[in-house]
Amino acid sequence: MKVGVVGLGFVGLSLASVLGAKGYKVLGFDSDKSKSRMIKNGTAPFYEPELEYTLRSALKKGFTTIEELADIVNDCKLIFITVGTPQQRDGSIDLSLIKSVASQIGDLLKNTINKPIIIVKSTVVPGTTQNVLLPLLKKRSHKAPGRDFAVITNPEFLRESMAIEDTKKPHVVVLGGGSDGFMNMMKKFYHKLHSDAPIIITNSQTAEMIKYANNSFLATKISFINQISNICQSVPGANVEDVARTIGLDPRIGPLFLNAGPGYGGSCLPKDVKAMINFSNGIGIKPVLLDAVETINEHQLKILLSTIKKATSKICGKRITILGTSFKPDTDDIRDSVSIKLIELLLKHKVKVTIHDPKAIENTKKIFGNKIRYVDSIKDALKDSECAVIMTSWKEYTKINNDHLSPMRRKIIVDSRRLLAKSDLDARYFPIGIG
Ligand code: UDX
Repeated sequence: MKVGVVGLGFVGLSLASVLGAKGYKVLGFDSDKSKSRMIKNGTAPFYEPELEYTLRSALKKGFTTIEELADIVNDCKLIFITVGTPQQRDGSIDLSLIKSVASQIGDLLKNTINKPIIIVKSTVVPGTTQNVLLPLLKKRSHKAPGRDFAVITNPEFLRESMAIEDTKKPHVVVLGGGSDGFMNMMKKFYHKLHSDAPIIITNSQTAEMIKYANNSFLATKISFINQISNICQSVPGANVEDVARTIGLDPRIGPLFLNAGPGYGGSCLPKDVKAMINFSNGIGIKPVLLDAVETINEHQLKILLSTIKKATSKICGKRITILGTSFKPDTDDIRDSVSIKLIELLLKHKVKVTIHDPKAIENTKKIFGNKIRYVDSIKDALKDSECAVIMTSWKEYTKINNDHLSPMRRKIIVDSRRLLAKSDLDARYFPIGIG
């Protein structure tokens, strides 16, 4: 059985690589030709642990990139749509890419005898598959869903930096659609691929809702602990680490996603919470809790800035080093990274900014050009600096010692992740969440 993957970003490329490496015949399509060429040559267009290795193995076994979408529509039994659904200015979801792909697939379906299952992996607000994509495919193809083709919603839960592992071993498989032969085929496909993962079969609206509920809950956990962190920071001696570790032992709470920090970033949580808020308001349900989750998240940056101001007494004209610009460790992704927002704020305050990041320097250069200084080694990045701000939990930063700090003009550390809370450093130390 041939599998098609349309859109070779984090989700699509991870899926195509994992399936290809397992020996499935996979055809991958991306409208960005230069990206496609890179992938064809075995180079991942972004940094993701294990991805390039898996991609190369897939290219040797069963994965081919193609130039024409028609090859997928004519040949593949399963067609995964994994294109981006970015955020618009008002926070709502931008469906233009996925609508365009559905229209193209619909046009091609018209002239094929193939009866594929079209699987929507992209994150879309509840009702999109049923009310937007299905009618579009029907209209363009002049064919009947459930007979000539099927559409199944199959949200993805993979984490960046763990994309390959999560694709190989998802904690759950969610399938939304009708209960017919197509659904059975899909269930069998996933059962063979992930025999241990529970498979939840529901309708498409619920499948779409599950994805938003999942990410909204994760964001809520982070904002909750960030609020507790802010309270701790104002109580001399109180420590959010001990609070989080202890409440995490309650099985009803659980230990994960209780790391207080500068607020959540990345390509998913901020966008999905905003889309849920926008969607909810649109149908007349006031999302009071999610509004608060977002407000707390945005407030974290202000707390961080005021901590930096307090630590340095005056920031204008000073050199400050930012350690970490990626939104989390083990990725070069800076999309919606709080660190980038902090640098923008510091530049407004006329701060001279130096940055260090083990992987994200090139991406950061694309935003700030020559407005800031980029340095490859931690020690050099701290040279002449009057304050170091730890933003990302890169492992390297947990090993910072007095030797690294020696070239600093003033030894001040603001640590948004408390990585150095237990280190014996000859510096003034301002951790977020410790009073
Ligand atoms: C997230 C979801 O975890 C994943 O299931 C979904 O498919 C896509 O969105 P990802 O964006 O890769 O994955 O990153 P994640 O590990 O969830 O972290 C998101 C942000 O939250 C990061 O900025 C991270 O630093 C922050 N975070 C996470 C915290 O501040 N504290 C935590 O305890 C956990």
